[in-house]
Amino acid sequence: MQKSLAEIDSVILTTLKNDEGYTSGEGLAQKLGVSRQALWKHIGNLTDKGYEIVAVPHLGYKLISSPDKFYPWEVKHNLKTRFIANEVYYQDSLPSTQDYIWQLGLKGAKEGQVVFAETQNRGRGRMQRQWLSPRGGIYFSLLLKPEFLPLNDIPKINLLISLACLKAIERITGIKCRLKWPNDIYLKDKKLAGILCEVNAEADKVHFVVIGVGVNVNSKDLPRGAVSLFLEAKKIFSRLQITKAILEEIEKYYLKAKAKGFSKILKEWQNHCYLWGKKVRVKIFDKLIEAEAIGIDKNGYLILKKENGQEEKISAGDIIKA
Ligand code: BTN
Repeated sequence: MQKSLAEIDSVILTTLKNDEGYTSGEGLAQKLGVSRQALWKHIGNLTDKGYEIVAVPHLGYKLISSPDKFYPWEVKHNLKTRFIANEVYYQDSLPSTQDYIWQLGLKGAKEGQVVFAETQNRGRGRMQRQWLSPRGGIYFSLLLKPEFLPLNDIPKINLLISLACLKAIERITGIKCRLKWPNDIYLKDKKLAGILCEVNAEADKVHFVVIGVGVNVNSKDLPRGAVSLFLEAKKIFSRLQITKAILEEIEKYYLKAKAKGFSKILKEWQNHCYLWGKKVRVKIFDKLIEAEAIGIDKNGYLILKKENGQEEKISAGDIIKA
């Protein structure tokens, strides 16, 4: 059977990546069942995509560098997950990756599918806020079907995802981050990453959840109050490496939650949150509460201690001052 373009690209790249030296053009063309001229064209397509490949007469081809882009074959290369990113979609620009995956969810897509965009022109955040998505960041949405969870427990997924992202970012970059309830990732006092969880459900049946992750990695121009890894460390990071770690951590925590419940995950989340003991101002729809943040409960609700000593638990809201 004839190979598709994507399959040919993938075989070329895997072969070049696995060969330490030069790969013979003749051998590679034979392996693919194409002429050497056709192979040359495929190599040209790959260079157009940002791969740096040198061709030396009598020696063959050598891959010098790969672009840091979310091409599906790059995301999947050596990715250690069982079902997350089983299907990867990629677009240079999208209004919002959330809508793309939502549509797949409506069509009954399997859980684990992910879509990436290099930039979004209508990226959105929590509370109907805009999420600026300049090039250089990570923007993806993931489809999950947490059949083991009732609708009431879905907010815990927010906490799980933010913890997984924090762990991955710290592991790859060595930069210490902190969590802010319910699902922001902070670097010192600025926001580094945000998570948006949108649910398609009826009565108590969750059909699917779309998780959107935005991380400011190499971006230079960001709104006030936001920071990127580049601005913090003054160096460029591999978005692919960070993304793969995020996908792996998400799967690890998700499977853990499915098998053993959330209690350990919530404890771990709490240990990485910086709010405890701080006076916070929380906006809950039109209501404002000022109180001391003291922890989260077994449902992931924020526990506040008011001046009169009374405790109040918040299931959803926005911390506008901490
Ligand atoms: C927030 O902090 O308010 C959540 C931000 C979530 C942004 C991500 S970027 C990928 C996905 N697509 C969107 O439009 N939003 C999410």
